[in-house]
Amino acid sequence: KSGVKGLLDAAAGGVVEIPQIFIRPPEEVAEDLELGRTSLRVPAIDLTGVGDKGSCTREKIVEQVKHASEKWGFFQVVNHGVPMKVLDAMLNGAREFNEQDVEVKKEYYSRDPERMVKFNTNYDFYMSKSASWRDTLIVDMLNSNHLDPQDLPAPCRNSTVDYLNQVMELADTLFELLSEALGLEPNYLKQLECEKSQTLTCHYYPACPKPDQTLGVNKHTDASFISILLQDEVGGLQVLHQNQWADVEPIPGALVVNIGDLLQIVSNDKFKSVIHRAVGNVTQARTSVAFFLHGVVTPPKMYGPIEKIITKESPRIYREFTVKDYMMKFYSRGLDEKTGLNYVR
Ligand code: SIN
Ligand code: FE2
Repeated sequence: KSGVKGLLDAAAGGVVEIPQIFIRPPEEVAEDLELGRTSLRVPAIDLTGVGDKGSCTREKIVEQVKHASEKWGFFQVVNHGVPMKVLDAMLNGAREFNEQDVEVKKEYYSRDPERMVKFNTNYDFYMSKSASWRDTLIVDMLNSNHLDPQDLPAPCRNSTVDYLNQVMELADTLFELLSEALGLEPNYLKQLECEKSQTLTCHYYPACPKPDQTLGVNKHTDASFISILLQDEVGGLQVLHQNQWADVEPIPGALVVNIGDLLQIVSNDKFKSVIHRAVGNVTQARTSVAFFLHGVVTPPKMYGPIEKIITKESPRIYREFTVKDYMMKFYSRGLDEKTGLNYVR
């Protein structure tokens, strides 16, 4: 209940060896070593002028989004309209919450799916082969969009409300660009209500004495339509690209966008939901804030590959499903297990 940070706080003399439950199985480490590293970087896309519908600037942006979504499943956006002070306040608030005394954080400790605001460590704890070096404050808006700001912890209350407002606007723009990149009307994905329910997760990765033995987040894909990640300057996010790990370098003021499983499915594999992970840092704690857009969870709505995208050359790959069902299956396994996409094939 104290989280990884709490465990470190309790070991006043400093932790040199990491506890056994965090140590990754040797076969997994060996498998990752085979993957190697690449110096390629996920594309960075400048959104300046994106509001000029029909302009050649916008067309170029759509082209870049299409390329990145097909080839990388990841891109960074700059000049995206979310003010720098809103980003900074969100990161600072998330950090401040996590750096509080264990006793304060314990009030928020919960694994209850019904609770909207909760703090825990390793939401995949019971399913994974090893625990991760990470604590998380979760704002779960899957079943209700009516977040009462008073339920948010004081250190990040206002900053979270501001950030949510701003990042939802960016999500609107991104879904337009992604719709166009799929050759659809700009409002197509919005009409599918891809942004209907959301989760915000504020991750805190304490400095890790043995980053070669454990991870901040085990490798996984996201069970979202898209995810938007705000990260501080420490770095550690890596994306699997052509079977090699690529670092997602922190760019001040940028946000990282990735395609989740649900968008891969409705795009009938045109866009890729790509495996990623977060590695630890020996000297510095890292803070990141991930925002997931999940589509309609309740009442159940059926999703499946978009008819207009299915052709003779690209026949339907997936069946229809509900987001709730998909997420239950997705989370009933460890994050480090193989793809969840097989559930709906
Ligand atoms: C995640 O993918 O779940 C978090 C990634 C990060 O913190 O960089
Ligand atoms: Fe992720």
